[in-house]
Amino acid sequence: MTATARTRSGVGLAARLLVALAVVLVTAAVTAWVVGAAVGPRLFHEHMVKAGLDDHDAAVVHAEEAFRAASTTAAALALVAAAIAATAASLVVARRIAGSLDAVAAAAADLGAGDYGVRVPTSGLGAEFEQLTTSFNALADRLEESQHLRERLLADVAHEIRTPVATIRGYVEAITDGVQELDATTADVLLGQAERLSRLARDLAAVTHAEAGDITLDLEPIQPEELVDAAVHAWAERAATAGVDVRSHAERPLPAVRVDHNRMAQVLDNLLANALRHTPSGGRITLRASRRDDQVCLEVSDTGTGIAAEHLPHVFERFYRAETARDRDSGGSGIGLAISKALVEAQGGTIHVASPGEDGGATFTITLPAAAEA
Ligand SMILES: Nc1ncnc2c1ncn2[C@@H]1O[C@H](COP(=O)(O)OP(=O)(O)OP(=O)(O)O)[C@@H](O)[C@H]1O
Ligand SMILES: [Mg+2]
Repeated sequence: MTATARTRSGVGLAARLLVALAVVLVTAAVTAWVVGAAVGPRLFHEHMVKAGLDDHDAAVVHAEEAFRAASTTAAALALVAAAIAATAASLVVARRIAGSLDAVAAAAADLGAGDYGVRVPTSGLGAEFEQLTTSFNALADRLEESQHLRERLLADVAHEIRTPVATIRGYVEAITDGVQELDATTADVLLGQAERLSRLARDLAAVTHAEAGDITLDLEPIQPEELVDAAVHAWAERAATAGVDVRSHAERPLPAVRVDHNRMAQVLDNLLANALRHTPSGGRITLRASRRDDQVCLEVSDTGTGIAAEHLPHVFERFYRAETARDRDSGGSGIGLAISKALVEAQGGTIHVASPGEDGGATFTITLPAAAEA
């Protein structure tokens, strides 16, 4: 980039610095010369006269001549010394600045060409350059991270698509070869796999929009107890069928929260679906709404299989499933919690998970700021 800029304007940094210093030097020399020529001999002459010497004395004329010559020589020597020092200083400074700029420019070019591992070393050229290298390296970190995420996302999506497509293909081939009949069971399998692909497409679109902050939120003050009661109501029947008890507890009074009713219902829906999927018959799912200082906590806890410590930090990642085989059989693609997290954060809240481990149940806690009292 510097090279292009240099060729475009034709003059490099060192030359510009040298020209600037030359201008300063010439200005200083001319000023010193003019002032020296106008003031120096006159002052010298006045001192001679004050010392009682005659104006026209040959010794005085000679001394004044010597003074002028000495002044001229001293000024010329000072000018040459200053010019040499200025040239050396500008070359050293320009070389160091240009070296650091070139390093940043080369790294930016590498980054642009897709080398996300490139970083710029600190230059030791002062605060501004430190700021430049720090910002550049932070930018490179972000790009590298999003590149890794993109690669992983693509690999995950490819992996998710492969299984249902292979199943559909296997069945269709078997039907075409007359090995398999297209009966109700086969149609169910095919539809189930097609539905899995549709849900993957839907979830991917949802998580992409939510994580990019590209969602319209209809924020309004809502009482937290309304949210938990509605969620329990929506899941009561499915839980009863699975032999799981679902109930809600809400502290009263609770301050309202400013959220999008539908989005928050979607988050609780995801958490309840997970809880029910991981809680065997005879278990219990509890939804709690409580106050913690000026925040409101919504908690979904279950007495189910729990989450092992090594999986806990990852459950909010896209496509992460703690127990791959079983979760895949039950149809989850591992996106539900990633969507939930993005939605909660878009509404100004946070979401956390805690679990004592295998078979200890799991608790998901959403923390939302209490809405300002009207
Ligand atoms: N209540 C829970 N108890 C035990 N494990 C859980 C619980 N909730 C989530 N998990 C673990 O976290 C993983 C990620 O959950 P997430 O909701 O993101 O995906 P999923 O439920 O597998 O699929 P999807 O929600 O996309 O249908 C799950 O696969 C499961 O292993
Ligand atoms: Mg889920």
